[in-house]
Amino acid sequence: MQHNPSLPVDPDRLLAIAQKWGTPTYVYMESMIRERCQMLKRLFPDLPVSWLYAVKANDNPHIIRIISGEGFGFDTVSYEEVLLCLKLGTGPKQIFYTENNMTDAEMQGAAKEGVTLNIGSLGRLRAFCEAYPGSECSIRIKPDISDGHHAKVDTGNQDSKFGIRLDLIPEAVRVAGEHGVRIRGIHAHIGSGIQEPENILAEIEVLLKSSAGLDDLAFINFGGGIPIPYRHDETPFDLDRFAHLASKRLKAFLEANNRPVSFFFEPGRWIVGPAGILLTQVNTVKDQGRKLFLGTDTGFNHLLRPALYEAYHEVVNISADAHGTSQTYHIAGNICESGDMLGLDRALPESKPGDYLAIRDTGAYGMTMASQYNRRALPAEVLITAEGYHKTIRSRKTPAETVNDLLKETGLAAAQKSETS
Ligand SMILES: Cc1ncc(COP(=O)(O)O)c(C=O)c1O
Repeated sequence: MQHNPSLPVDPDRLLAIAQKWGTPTYVYMESMIRERCQMLKRLFPDLPVSWLYAVKANDNPHIIRIISGEGFGFDTVSYEEVLLCLKLGTGPKQIFYTENNMTDAEMQGAAKEGVTLNIGSLGRLRAFCEAYPGSECSIRIKPDISDGHHAKVDTGNQDSKFGIRLDLIPEAVRVAGEHGVRIRGIHAHIGSGIQEPENILAEIEVLLKSSAGLDDLAFINFGGGIPIPYRHDETPFDLDRFAHLASKRLKAFLEANNRPVSFFFEPGRWIVGPAGILLTQVNTVKDQGRKLFLGTDTGFNHLLRPALYEAYHEVVNISADAHGTSQTYHIAGNICESGDMLGLDRALPESKPGDYLAIRDTGAYGMTMASQYNRRALPAEVLITAEGYHKTIRSRKTPAETVNDLLKETGLAAAQKSETS
């Protein structure tokens, strides 16, 4: 059971960050994010493949800027994400907005900005076509193929809420044609943290086939979902093998079709997941009889994945001697719910209050899923820059600031002041 996973950052450096910035703090490595973007861009050297970054994985503006600098466009899933990318200087043509139960106001906002709207229901397609005759859009389909690290992120199955049914694609073409709207793209996303590469290949097949009736087609978007290993003994997804198999199929498609279609992928997790670490401090060691608990200053309010998906994240004690006596701990958060566990039955060197823990592979779906449950402040975020500096990219609010913000947002700040003055 005992193992000593190596961290992607020198533990002394993490300790220095924890001591200077306090905890909880997310730490990201710029050079790793850049390298991973570059690795993806090298995968399909002789095909018209472009890359979008799924902003939902980590939307810190500094991270978005880094990824934009690597030549990525953006996959967005809300009007707010669209606005964020635009405000950071990304051109609308580089922004793909995959809507999901979008409102009319969101549609009007996105259409005005000129981003590519990827429409996932017939009803919304009708509304779009009526509002913007003669324009262009993309459609998201439900491929009836799905995968993912957990049922909650498995998005392409038959009963999924996402995408237009395969048998309704002709109706989508008819509705668009009636209004002179050109369907320029077709998209699917089968899930996040794909377990079987064959499932993406099968999804590619469905998209290629489904594109046959789309006369105005300019691109096909295969979605995201490339997984990362979270356990030290997990085999990483074989990207090269996947790219090899996909390339063969995409080349054959281009040859057979003889029309200038380009391709997109839109990963999030693979780019930023391994480049993030959540630092937390142990404040309690508690023997509950059958289980020994380490209590920390973070919880599922800051890292939801273990509670929501029973996800596993490697936890390393960066203060203790890695080769010292080992103990088996439940690692608990400070949220007032029994499900607030960050790791179960973990072998760690004997730990004490004041020790710092590094929770690995938390760069994706960590901070973006964080909340202020129990009215606690969000973590700070620190970037280790490509030049090796430490830069604050989000500061942590004090408890007083956190409470004052709530009073301000609820219109009670003034009342509270006058009551106490
Ligand atoms: C439409 C869409 N595209 C891309 C992604 C990114 O997925 P991942 O981070 O697993 O690559 C998601 C996430 O679920 C998504 O919903």
